[in-house]
Amino acid sequence: MVEKRLIIGISGASGAPIAVALLKALQSMPVQTHLVVTKGGEMTLSQECGMNLEDASKLADVTYDNSNIGAALASGTFTACGMVVAPASMKTVAGIHSGYSDNLLLRAADVVLKEGRKLILVPRESPLSQIHLRNLLDLSQMGVRILPPMLSYYSSPQTIEDMTNHMVGKILDQLGYAPETFIRWEGMK
Ligand SMILES: Cc1cc2nc3c(=O)[nH]c(=O)nc-3n(C[C@H](O)[C@H](O)[C@H](O)COP(=O)(O)O)c2cc1C
Repeated sequence: MVEKRLIIGISGASGAPIAVALLKALQSMPVQTHLVVTKGGEMTLSQECGMNLEDASKLADVTYDNSNIGAALASGTFTACGMVVAPASMKTVAGIHSGYSDNLLLRAADVVLKEGRKLILVPRESPLSQIHLRNLLDLSQMGVRILPPMLSYYSSPQTIEDMTNHMVGKILDQLGYAPETFIRWEGMK
């Protein structure tokens, strides 16, 4: 059986550790990861994880050049079960919202939307302007899952890694791959 393909986009918002933890978690899932990183994503990977594109590529099955708008991901005939953009900068959110696909990440998201496939965004900015909020609302109304990397305390995180892993668990949960270690709220004890 052909493994499911999942597209992972990393853009230039703070939160590159979420992308790295997500790629690591997906390595043990029955899914093939297809990675595309914007120039901004490369900057945040370097700033926040001390990693370059080559390092990130080692965590994915296939990595694409973001400037290659002729790559497989640019066509709807490339079948994928969906796409996660984590983190999603407000520029990338705006590009997806407007269909302005001037790089491969944006084109891949455009294709996922036009083909009615699952698109999950992990948008990060603070505070959010009305432009950001409107774009996110519109995308949500189109069926895009919006999962901002918000802090949660009910899982009693002890470290930043715990917080990151909880966020990754929420993304994986949307894909039906939440690990057994994912802490769910089971009501007040
Ligand atoms: C270290 C760093 C952190 C950034 N954090 C954010 C952020 O949290 N949210 C955001 O929307 N933009 C952030 N930016 C700005 C974006 O990277 C910038 O708007 C860029 O053009 C986004 O392009 P891209 O979406 O193609 O990666 C950050 C930039 C740098 C260098």
